[in-house]
Amino acid sequence: MRALITGASSGVGRATAHRLAADGWDLHLASRSAGPLADAAQECRARGAGQVAVHVCDVSDRTAVDDLLSGMPSPDAVVHAPAVLAYGRFEDVPAEVFDASVRTTLHGSAHVAQASLRAFARSGDRGHLVLVGSLLGEIPVPTMSSYCTAKWGVHGLARCLQVETRSLPGVHVSLVGLGAVRTPVYVQAGTYQGRRGRPAPPSVSSDHAARRVVRVLERPRRLRRVGVLTAATAWGHRWAPSAYDALITPLFDRFGLEPDVDHDRDGPGNVLTPTPGGEAVDHRYR
Ligand SMILES: NC(=O)c1ccc[n+]([C@@H]2O[C@H](COP(=O)([O-])OP(=O)(O)OC[C@H]3O[C@@H](n4cnc5c(N)ncnc54)[C@H](OP(=O)(O)O)[C@@H]3O)[C@@H](O)[C@H]2O)c1
Repeated sequence: MRALITGASSGVGRATAHRLAADGWDLHLASRSAGPLADAAQECRARGAGQVAVHVCDVSDRTAVDDLLSGMPSPDAVVHAPAVLAYGRFEDVPAEVFDASVRTTLHGSAHVAQASLRAFARSGDRGHLVLVGSLLGEIPVPTMSSYCTAKWGVHGLARCLQVETRSLPGVHVSLVGLGAVRTPVYVQAGTYQGRRGRPAPPSVSSDHAARRVVRVLERPRRLRRVGVLTAATAWGHRWAPSAYDALITPLFDRFGLEPDVDHDRDGPGNVLTPTPGGEAVDHRYR
């Protein structure tokens, strides 16, 4: 079996690569950073992967994604994980940073989904696309508009593709809705408020999230939520929106953001260009 994992140099993507490697899959690992990808490939070989190839590819670039999928043997599975974001009130986040975040997180998902479905068609309408979504694709959170906008879009895209592929019994599109995972995504993010995020408790490890992704690969799901409060929070927002709106700002300020404000941190983080020094499977949050 052969899988393409985008966003494989860090966090959930890298942990998923480890899990599939241990099951002997052939792996194609993609992200924007060659160094961490090479490290991830080495880790996968050590865990028993079949063939491992790495691809430096920016998923916000449609042509690069098309070239990647048409230049490799058709995958049985594609796990799409990349996301970047910047914290700050909507009016304070520079337009180019907001746009670049949405281009990677939402448009990147569309680019990879379209190229994957075309690759599945070339191999006789067989294949499984797993889009990594988020609880924040179902709820709004203050100072995360770039991410929420993109993730709500990813969830909408996944549902459309699930309906469209109903007539193709060999093609599956699944969505994994993660709650907080202790990956580096929070410290890699940009900020324009002197504070970045942190995983709100109860968070899980990247490997825990990766196990859920692999289970979905074995059994396709419309939406597989991960995290003990994920479903309850989504339902709370849906059925009690006024209470949700009143509570989310103080709760997020207390549990979802760094405690100290330091405007020296302000900047785009890894939104415009990668910061490979910060990539890892998990990050230690205090
Ligand atoms: N961590 C959480 O609490 C959490 C919660 C809910 C959902 N999720 C979702 O889980 C997925 C994985 O996130 P993570 O937490 O594992 O983040 P992460 O550790 O920051 O990993 C993100 C990966 O995406 C890659 N990437 C970023 N921009 C890219 C681009 N334009 N083209 C190609 N690759 C790109 C990064 O590598 P380069 O920068 O080198 O390209 C990295 O490999 C995301 O979809 C995220 O929304 C995470």
